[in-house]
Amino acid sequence: FQPKLLAGRRVLITAGPTFEAIDPVRGITNLSSGKMGFAIARAAREAGAEVTLVAGPVHLPTPRGVRRIDVQSAQQMHDAVLPLAAQHGVFIATAAVADWRPAAAAGEKIKKDGSGQVPAIGFTENPDILAAVARLPGGPYCVGFAAESHDLARHAREKRLRKGVPLIVGNVGPATFGKDDNTLLLVDADGERALPTADKLTLARALVADIAQRLGTAA
Ligand code: C5P
Repeated sequence: FQPKLLAGRRVLITAGPTFEAIDPVRGITNLSSGKMGFAIARAAREAGAEVTLVAGPVHLPTPRGVRRIDVQSAQQMHDAVLPLAAQHGVFIATAAVADWRPAAAAGEKIKKDGSGQVPAIGFTENPDILAAVARLPGGPYCVGFAAESHDLARHAREKRLRKGVPLIVGNVGPATFGKDDNTLLLVDADGERALPTADKLTLARALVADIAQRLGTAA
């Protein structure tokens, strides 16, 4: 029996990749299955929270009892999340948001003209959703994710300060992308703690219990 560690709390979660259109049939995206974010949404709901999940394009069923909002691009994710953030006590950003988008998406499919010329695509920086929520006065308790290929602890520590959030959860990507198992490293102001390798739902439950304890609701 799991105690309802997050009863009465509202938890907002981003998950999955974002998709940035180049033209109506093409785009750029990041590798992310959304599994970790969906597992956290399920675990938070199981813990009694009211959960809102803002998801990029993924192929996953909505966890039972979770309110889901589907988006495509980083800008759409930002525009969905920001007005909701003030109504939530916790924000967990697991989404693999594209850092850049094509500056101007073409209205029609870009055609090969046979000359061998390739189109030049200029990029614009996307908004940093987590940093924007972390800056909100009186905003939710913010948890960020860091997927790194090396020096996980150092990058996670730096990211925590850069984003201005109390907790960063590091995982080793891209080894974990699309996989059912993951290893998490929790980095806060006091140091770091590893959660042992397990399936993503087990880790999600451990992370939710850890966050509940930080909020001071744990029994
Ligand atoms: O800067 P980086 O992408 O490595 O940071 C990762 C963390 O920031 C994740 O929690 C991710 O969901 C969040 N993020 C965001 N908006 C962005 C980029 C990253 O919310 N544009």
